[in-house]
Amino acid sequence: MRLNNFVWTTAIIAAAVILTAVLSTASLGASDTGGVEGQGVAANKSQQIARGKYLVDIMGCHDCHTPVKMGDKGPEWDMTRALSGHPEQVPMPPAPALPPGPWGVTMALTGTAFAGPWGTSFTKNLTPDKETGLGDWTVEEFIATMKTGRERGKGREVLPPMPVQNLRALSDADIRSLFAYLQSLPAIKNRTPQPVEPPDSK
Ligand code: HEC
Repeated sequence: MRLNNFVWTTAIIAAAVILTAVLSTASLGASDTGGVEGQGVAANKSQQIARGKYLVDIMGCHDCHTPVKMGDKGPEWDMTRALSGHPEQVPMPPAPALPPGPWGVTMALTGTAFAGPWGTSFTKNLTPDKETGLGDWTVEEFIATMKTGRERGKGREVLPPMPVQNLRALSDADIRSLFAYLQSLPAIKNRTPQPVEPPDSK
């Protein structure tokens, strides 16, 4: 009988110890999950922004949306104005008329204004400035712009040479990454000019 009592007591103590261990692990786990999930969201966000930067860099958004300045080794992007579009301090005179023939498009020395059969277009400010950039755009409007080639998905058609045809092939996830990166940039106030219609359209 004594032995039996000893066995039972030991078993009960062991069970209590195990139960306590399980409970404390469970509550530790529970409180940990919140933290881990929080970090997960932050990690996803920074991964998304990194993906967006990668896409902006390889897809040539800077080629047209970042003004060029003269550097020691020739023209280079002015990264203090990265992706802020045609500089409002550089008013463009009317585009030169080209002689008939195979030459069709002219480009400003800033690399941000273009004239062709569609008229004159100026690249837009893609930084998150609320008044002059994409600060008040929703991600849905940005996706719709990329998918339809229309401003915010419902406005006028986005003019050349914005590579609308190529951008249609982007997945929604990649467009979201592009937007996340653009929205993470410093906001630059720069009101880009309105496009000018071609002379023969009037
Ligand atoms: C070859 C030049 C060129 C390249 C490359 C280019 N864009 Fe553009 N983009 C333009 C021009 C020009 C406009 C303005 C056209 C207009 O006024 O309709 C424009 C307009 C836009 C607009 C519309 C903004 C608004 O306010 O309506 C968005 C958004 C945009 N570009 C994003 C991008 C992104 C993101 C990339 C890179 C993936 C990119 N662009 C690459 C030339 C370019």
